[in-house]
Amino acid sequence: MDQVAQVRQKIDIVNLIQEYLPLKKTGRNFKTNCPFHGEKTPSFVVSPERQIWHCFGCHKGGDVFTFLMEYEHIEFPEALRILADKAGIALKQQFDTGVTSRKERLYGINRLAAEFYHYLLTKHTLGKDALSYLTKNRHITLAALKTFQLGYAPKMGNALVTYLLKKKGYKREDVLEAGLAYERNGRLYDFFHDRIIFVLTDHRDNVVGFSGRIMSQRTDTSKYINTRETLIYHKGMTFFGFNIAKEAIKKDGEVILMEGEFDVISSFQQGVSNVVAVKGTALTDDQVNLLSRFTQKVAICFDMDRAGQDALRRSIPLLEKKNLQTTVIVLPNGKDPDDSIQENPITYKKAVKEEINVYEFLLREALHKWDATTVEGKRAITAEVLPVYGLIENEIVKEHFLNELSQAIDTSSESLQKEMNKQKKQQLIKKESVFTPTPRIREEVLEEYITALIIQAEDPKPLLILVDSFLATYIWQVASYQKILKRLEDMVATTVYSQEGFVAALPQELESAFDTCFLLPLPVFSDKERYTQEVKQVAKELQQLFVRAQIKRIGDAIKKQEKEGTVEELETLQEQLSQFVGLLSQKNES
Ligand code: CTP
Ligand code: MN
Repeated sequence: MDQVAQVRQKIDIVNLIQEYLPLKKTGRNFKTNCPFHGEKTPSFVVSPERQIWHCFGCHKGGDVFTFLMEYEHIEFPEALRILADKAGIALKQQFDTGVTSRKERLYGINRLAAEFYHYLLTKHTLGKDALSYLTKNRHITLAALKTFQLGYAPKMGNALVTYLLKKKGYKREDVLEAGLAYERNGRLYDFFHDRIIFVLTDHRDNVVGFSGRIMSQRTDTSKYINTRETLIYHKGMTFFGFNIAKEAIKKDGEVILMEGEFDVISSFQQGVSNVVAVKGTALTDDQVNLLSRFTQKVAICFDMDRAGQDALRRSIPLLEKKNLQTTVIVLPNGKDPDDSIQENPITYKKAVKEEINVYEFLLREALHKWDATTVEGKRAITAEVLPVYGLIENEIVKEHFLNELSQAIDTSSESLQKEMNKQKKQQLIKKESVFTPTPRIREEVLEEYITALIIQAEDPKPLLILVDSFLATYIWQVASYQKILKRLEDMVATTVYSQEGFVAALPQELESAFDTCFLLPLPVFSDKERYTQEVKQVAKELQQLFVRAQIKRIGDAIKKQEKEGTVEELETLQEQLSQFVGLLSQKNES
């Protein structure tokens, strides 16, 4: 395992994370918006000293390896390989958790399946009708067929399975695990039959799954079917066409979101190539996270039908949450992008250029649908537009659109603002249960804070003594903090405090608690005196909380004993009680 340590030592965490996220220096640490949960005020902290990262919002954290694993959705061995490469260290030994090799196996088998389907479509007589459907009916060029590696799955029951098992030596479990086959009465059959095959890849070009479309009008099966969820295919994390569009997205600084495979390919053929398909309608947080790594701007170009427009509305909060600038591409005559392009590519390209701000678009649509001069109309329009306007982070932008709305429906901005606040409150109540972790009691928060104050201090010794004077009998809610402070006390009693020395001797189970406190952002104190005052203040509050809790506990016990206890027991309790009460009044004076 020492090669792991070697790699960890060579890779600087700030440099690494900076390749992915914009880091801002704050004090000794760096900060940014957390890539693992939606937020607008940064709680993702990176420490160059400790070479760790931690998010105070979602409580994830770790080192260079865990960052890469979380960020790229990969396992440890792959993260190690990537970082070893970066560090210029040749690994002597392959690390393998089993999951990696299974994933690699599935990528491999999918890659072969893609080639098999592509071959049948482009080179084999079995694919003749499919080829003609694609080129004649759907106007796909041969170049695009190749770029997107389109394929054809034949009618017969098990062509692919036979190829993979007999010719390529894969096992039954492999094709089943990849979702390429299903089993019936002990026999394996291909999952896709007589369908056009679209290859689905992840952002690192691995083939993760497929979707298949029927060629004729049929009612006995669905138009599209997709690979079921597997170890490597997660519908909510995948876009069709992302691998092809990636460079264009970066270059254009924008991604265009569409619904379907044909929409994307048709657009690509017209030279608008920064396009991906969400495949169906509901955009997910994972998909938005992926996009936000490549661009800050998203243009939505969904179908102009009801489903597409509903999907658009549902996507806005997800995009707004990630701070992505959102526009809408409005296609002429209520079409989907593919239809629109087939009809007239020039008007399509014009529509792309004339993308409009999503808030403006919503208002325009609502004004189309309802009569803004009637009370009912005003109510309907505000009901549709206002909840979305409430999401706008930037106050100036928000005011701008509120004014537009106010003018459009001839209602004062004040009443709109009032209505919006009302809605916001209701939303907040609903939303809170989704994100916030279980709320912590005050004691836990203060224990973390005081531990952070002490371990981040230049000289913790006097602070420890101070704290001890208040908390000698205190019972800690979070045992790890108490243990950390105890170890620190032992250390400063015998040697001078050094952070490295302290951490080196720290048992592993305390590391994460230590890191949390080590990274906890602290207020800025003008001088040492203020810093000490703060520690004292917090220690005092903790003591007060403790004393009150004890008084309550003993009080309850006394009530109980008065009914059923002995005189002696009662006296002991009374004595304890007066001790604590004394403590309470004494500390109130100081
Ligand atoms: N889709 C899916 N599963 C379905 C139906 C649709 O995954 N059962 C996805 C497909 O990616 C499809 C997209 O949703 O392309 C949009 O569906 P729809 O509008 O019905 O299809 P079109 O894009 O119009 O497809 P086509 O042009 O092939 O008719
Ligand atoms: Mn469509």
